[in-house]
Amino acid sequence: MSLASKKPLSILMAEASEEGAHTLKRSLGALNLTALGVGAIIGAGIFVLTGQAAATYAGPAIVFSFVIAGFGCLFAGLCYAEFASMIPIAGSAYTYGYATLGEFWAWIIGWDLILEYLFAASTVSVGWSGYFVALMHDIGWDVPARFASAPLQWVEATKSFEGTGTIVNLPAMALIAAVTALLVVGIRESATFNNIAVFIKVSIVLLVIIFGFKYVDTANWQPFIPEQGPEGFGHFGWTGIVRGSAVVFFAYIGFDAVSTAAQEAKNPKRDLPIGILASLAVCTVLYILMTLVMTGIVPYTQLNVPNPVFVAIDAAGPALKWLTYFINVGAIAGLSSVVLVMLLGQPRIFYAMSRDGLLPPVFGRVHAKFRTPWLATIITGGVAMVFGGLFPIGVLGELVSIGTLLAFVIVCAGIWVMRVRSPELPRPFRTPLVPLVPILGIGICLFMMAFLPLVTWLRLGVWMAIGVVIYFVYGRHHSKLSKQLAGDRE
Ligand code: ALA
Repeated sequence: MSLASKKPLSILMAEASEEGAHTLKRSLGALNLTALGVGAIIGAGIFVLTGQAAATYAGPAIVFSFVIAGFGCLFAGLCYAEFASMIPIAGSAYTYGYATLGEFWAWIIGWDLILEYLFAASTVSVGWSGYFVALMHDIGWDVPARFASAPLQWVEATKSFEGTGTIVNLPAMALIAAVTALLVVGIRESATFNNIAVFIKVSIVLLVIIFGFKYVDTANWQPFIPEQGPEGFGHFGWTGIVRGSAVVFFAYIGFDAVSTAAQEAKNPKRDLPIGILASLAVCTVLYILMTLVMTGIVPYTQLNVPNPVFVAIDAAGPALKWLTYFINVGAIAGLSSVVLVMLLGQPRIFYAMSRDGLLPPVFGRVHAKFRTPWLATIITGGVAMVFGGLFPIGVLGELVSIGTLLAFVIVCAGIWVMRVRSPELPRPFRTPLVPLVPILGIGICLFMMAFLPLVTWLRLGVWMAIGVVIYFVYGRHHSKLSKQLAGDRE
């Protein structure tokens, strides 16, 4: 069998319409799916990274960074929406790859998506831990420092990981364990928790925007684009804006996670595109307003802290003191729902890969009572716990960004390929202006990837090389498609 064997769409669609106790439960409508997207999007990006990116790379012009990253996501989102309506299967980009580019590329995308989902859960759990420790401190309990941060750090000078003296990041691990347990119990329960968390975090973001706007001093926006600093390229000026976009791209990650819930959607062909595009639109508007407020209340140089939203509102003075208490709560609720949706997405991709034989059958087991991919969920949670417990947020976050950007590039390319090869297929949602939109999506995503550090590229290379080895050792020999094709020939 050739590595380029594609999974026929007829088989994919037959699998998607299977019903019964071994299949996932269809209980999500358009609103739940949009909430799922917002749940995955608003998190550590806006609550932690934005302030740092404004202070070190772009100044108030971080708003433009959000616009650039937002366009990259919009073009990729439009492509995701077409695929999700055409092939509404839990595997997301992995399945799209299987239908368009062939098994090997599908595996590559599936393996790459682990960087997005599993590692994002670990990354955000580390951010959550920081806010949790701060909140506990406020209410009078100090989590012992040796159990509250990563025991490993990346040292640029020696190009190696070194010990920090702490033991483990226990709050990060505890969050992942709790979320994993919830996900095993049920999709409806998980969606309910997510809806509540989304309500809390969106309300708090809105409060920050509405009440914060009155305290904006436009002098803080002067100059809006600070001149390039002595550090040179990438520090302020236009190059700083672009570098900032690669950093804040992280804040947008997650709208595509809606597509992993395809087999739990009641009306996936209509509702998946709505969920993907509506969640992206809502968050883009909120992000742009939020960054205008933050950089308007305080000089951007003061935002290089782990809790920039808090610092900005705190600077508004006693009148907004009440809001600062809510910000920690908003961040804690917000970040936990990101972890939830990421840990929901990953096992569903594993589920699809296992059903195709590319991963062992344990990943495809559905719990008879809960109707969730429970073993894959527990394995995902276990691995995410280890990474969240040991590594710092920066190293994990950059890997997530590069992995996700790569997936977006491949999805955009896939839409274009599919339009050329199979123009006749029914497409309930059609990406406008093909091939312009996919080309722009590919271009902007590659452009942002180019601004990520070399060491992140090397880690991506190592990760993908491990994936290729696993495919040739396991997946290629167990692929159901290759067995089916061989059977057809006999
Ligand atoms: N977009 C998600 C966040 O910012 C991953 O936390």
